[in-house]
Amino acid sequence: MQAIVLAAGKGTRMKSQTPKVLHEALGVPLLGHVLKNLEAVRIEKPVVVVGAGADQVKAYLGKRAVPVLQAEQRGTGHAVLMAAKALEGYSGDVIIWPGDMPLVKLETLKLFLRKHRSSGAAVSVLSAIRLDPAGYGRILRRGGEFCGIREELDASESERRICEVNTGVYIFDKKKLFTSLKRVRPQNKKNEIYLTDTIEILAAAGDVLKAFPLAESDEGQGVNSKADLAEVMKKLNERYIREHQDNGVTFVFPEQTLICADVKIGQDTVVYPWTFIESGVRIGSGCQIGPFAKIRSGTVIGDSSVIGSFVEVNRSKIGKKVSAKHLSYLGDAVIGDGTNIGAGTITANYDGKQKHQTRIGKNVMVGSDTVFVAPVSVSDFARTGAGAVLTAGTVIKKGQVAVGVPAKTLNYGKAKS
Ligand code: UD1
Ligand code: MG
Repeated sequence: MQAIVLAAGKGTRMKSQTPKVLHEALGVPLLGHVLKNLEAVRIEKPVVVVGAGADQVKAYLGKRAVPVLQAEQRGTGHAVLMAAKALEGYSGDVIIWPGDMPLVKLETLKLFLRKHRSSGAAVSVLSAIRLDPAGYGRILRRGGEFCGIREELDASESERRICEVNTGVYIFDKKKLFTSLKRVRPQNKKNEIYLTDTIEILAAAGDVLKAFPLAESDEGQGVNSKADLAEVMKKLNERYIREHQDNGVTFVFPEQTLICADVKIGQDTVVYPWTFIESGVRIGSGCQIGPFAKIRSGTVIGDSSVIGSFVEVNRSKIGKKVSAKHLSYLGDAVIGDGTNIGAGTITANYDGKQKHQTRIGKNVMVGSDTVFVAPVSVSDFARTGAGAVLTAGTVIKKGQVAVGVPAKTLNYGKAKS
């Protein structure tokens, strides 16, 4: 199986310097959401048509895809033609997927593939029923049979009332795709070579064509504007939160909680509102997170820990039963089990050039307003006094007490364990 992803368009309606397909939706660019699905059906290297912002898009793709250049954006059909060479020698079905269509689920793709195969169609289109079809190509049917797609700009009054729309996701027999595409001419208001015009050509040739409507039309939401992007993020967020709820995570106010892609949270963890959890974060079970917490990528939090209000955790490994309840920044930190982080604690991890680590052991009591100017290392059972500033290179031994600015260890600071 092969696939072509269309990602060359400027995305004029986004009004942005960033190419449309690189806009992030909850931690993953739109294009990444599409690639994930294709990879999951074992399409290892889809052909991605790049154009606007080609260098940026190629840099993002890395080795995940074969980029082909569409130097001038002359329409979706023209874009597909650019992929012909990369698919030379291949015969079989080709999935075509627009890089701005990120919400179609993997189960849906699998079902679509099965339906296409059992129908024996030359091309199958994934369609969606939308109460407001504006902006999408309309699915034309004659006697119930799918026979064409009409773009909104070129549609008649009655065609515009059709609520079944084209998602832009297709499975084509490769040979039929390219033979029909070669016959498409730019005969439309935009003067572009439309991929959608292949349908009428194949219909006239008597080929079997199918349009399968999505069971959940929300999946057919594309992104052409910033408003669409916000819609997509909202839906992805609802989807992710639902998956965590099904795993036993409590969300006190889901609508006011943002969870990015690829997050893992253990059961009985409670996430309070106004919390933002970035992609890749791992949180154990029985934790309390938020309200107003920001947990950033690269963070792992152990079971039964509390990350409270106005606490930001970044690229850090937090042990079990750690408590950081108020007003802290913990970046590039490793914190052992049972440690208490006093209110206002800051890891000053950045010296203007490099980021450094703060290592805090188990069962440490960190006094309010402590600043760790990394790199700093604090052993198990140590304590810091309120307002202590531990300058770079400081090492506090087991059970010692460090106070002051710059922090000094107190004489009586013998091991207390
Ligand atoms: C397209 C479909 C429309 C469908 C809609 C679904 C056509 C003519 N229309 O319209 O029927 O309802 O998608 O979202 O196909 N692209 C290129 N090169 C180009 C033009 C576009 O690579 O020359 C890429 C874009 O980057 C984008 C995708 O193709 O990822 C779709 O292009 P877009 O301009 O968004 O088409 P729509 O107007 O949404
Ligand atoms: Mg579009």
